[in-house]
Amino acid sequence: MIIIMLGAPGTGKGTVAGMLEERLGIKQVSTGDIFRKNIQEGTELGKLADSYMSKGELVPDDVTINIVADRLEKPDVQKGIILDGFPRTVAQAEALDTILSNKGKKVDMVLNLITPEEEIIERVVSRRVCSNPECKTIYNVIMNPPKQEGICDKCGSHLVQRQDDNEETIKARIRTYMEQTSPLVEYYKTKGVLRTEEVSQRINHLGKDVADEVERDIKNNIL
Ligand code: AP5
Ligand code: MG
Repeated sequence: MIIIMLGAPGTGKGTVAGMLEERLGIKQVSTGDIFRKNIQEGTELGKLADSYMSKGELVPDDVTINIVADRLEKPDVQKGIILDGFPRTVAQAEALDTILSNKGKKVDMVLNLITPEEEIIERVVSRRVCSNPECKTIYNVIMNPPKQEGICDKCGSHLVQRQDDNEETIKARIRTYMEQTSPLVEYYKTKGVLRTEEVSQRINHLGKDVADEVERDIKNNIL
């Protein structure tokens, strides 16, 4: 099962992917998390990625595609994978199709999340994430606070704010999404695998309803 999480920054890709990982028992792989881990560890890849991420721009396609191609070889994703934040350009989507077809696989579902822009900005500036790279649970100080301020409910590690979660960078990230990533909605619609869900405060609170529906449909083989 290959699932892609598509959507503008802050729409809840990581939140819903985390729920689906637990429920379906398939691994969530976020390219953003891979880059952030490299930045934290001070690797060459981290330095390169940081120079783009801090401006709200995309890391170049060749770099990103190679990382995902290597990750797709690992044993823990042979049963399935939830790709969170990849692909983000048509070139990445085409490369993914080629990699998968060489393995006799294909994209099964693209979960496209939509949220009004003003809500995105509010969500992102109030997001906190668990600093433990094995946990990475996502919180929101307004909408989904931890039980104890600054501490992860699940593993007890400190919560941190992402460097790109400020108003200026989030606006640039939304522009980048509109210009480079939004054409993928049409790309996957044409392939018949797109599933669009609205996740705003009014409905689908914290994405749980979306995860419930997707889990039910996958278990009943309705895609
Ligand atoms: P990435 O880490 O993927 O960031 P993003 O796409 O900007 O998305 P976010 O992680 O900010 O948001 P999300 O949709 O996961 O929302 P979340 O669940 O956290 O990428 C970062 C950077 O890395 C990119 O800018 C780029 O530079 C680079 N990069 C990554 N992949 C790349 C690629 N393929 N190619 C090139 N460059 C790449 O939720 C957000 C907040 O809202 C949380 O606080 C959460 O608690 C809250 N929330 C979630 N759902 C709800 C809800 N339904 N109601 C209320 N609140 C909610
Ligand atoms: Mg995310």
